[in-house]
Amino acid sequence: MEIDNLNIPNHIAIIVDGNGRWAKKRGLSRSMGHKAGSDNIEVLAKHVFDRGIKILSFFVFSTENFKRSKEEVDYLMNLFITKFNSNTFNKKNIKIIFSGRREPLDKDVLNAIDSITEKTKNNTGGIINFCLNYGGHSEIIDATKKIAEDYKNGKIDIDNLNEEIYQKYLYQDLPPIDLLIRTSGEYRISNFMLWQLSYSEFYFTPIYFPDFKEKELDEAIIEFSKRNRRFGGIKNETESN
Ligand code: IPE
Ligand code: MG
Repeated sequence: MEIDNLNIPNHIAIIVDGNGRWAKKRGLSRSMGHKAGSDNIEVLAKHVFDRGIKILSFFVFSTENFKRSKEEVDYLMNLFITKFNSNTFNKKNIKIIFSGRREPLDKDVLNAIDSITEKTKNNTGGIINFCLNYGGHSEIIDATKKIAEDYKNGKIDIDNLNEEIYQKYLYQDLPPIDLLIRTSGEYRISNFMLWQLSYSEFYFTPIYFPDFKEKELDEAIIEFSKRNRRFGGIKNETESN
């Protein structure tokens, strides 16, 4: 199938999963799985933006991931610092943004986050939204607190609060997710982007994230292009039942 003629999503989100199992299968440490996964993010980003997709959200660390061993959390945090302090994304003209709570991230991580955000803010080759220390419930609570704060200060008229305004209080004001991909054979949302996923198409694959490459992503896009998105409306008239 010629992918260039297909209906391409605008915003793809990926729940990164299976790094640990990918490593175990090869007799490697979990850390090596995370390293392979983080290298794959660069591969996928290049491919996705070449295909004309505008936004790529990656769930790389949930608020719940702090329950993992200190060794694993430390490895992941150091990996984030290394990746964000490198010039890889900037060189590819990619803009990097973040979704998540700042607390209790270490200063070094926050500095790396702030520095890459600033450095890439005018880049135009596609947006990567890293969901790091992210939780969907936390995002809704944090947005609601900011709204309450603005209400106290007379900055918002609650009678006029609507979806468009509410969305501006989320971590990022992004277009909706068109296609959600979860790797590694798990069929859950795991508290990811609860607001933004309201009308997304879901794609689940048994492939572990480090093995989910260009070809696998194209297969997901091809599957997406076959879906008939109705947003609560009725079926396209030209289609038979
Ligand atoms: C996903 O891979 C990476 C992160 C959550 C940071 P996992 O670490 O969840 O890999 P499995 O599920 O143990 O295979
Ligand atoms: Mg997992």
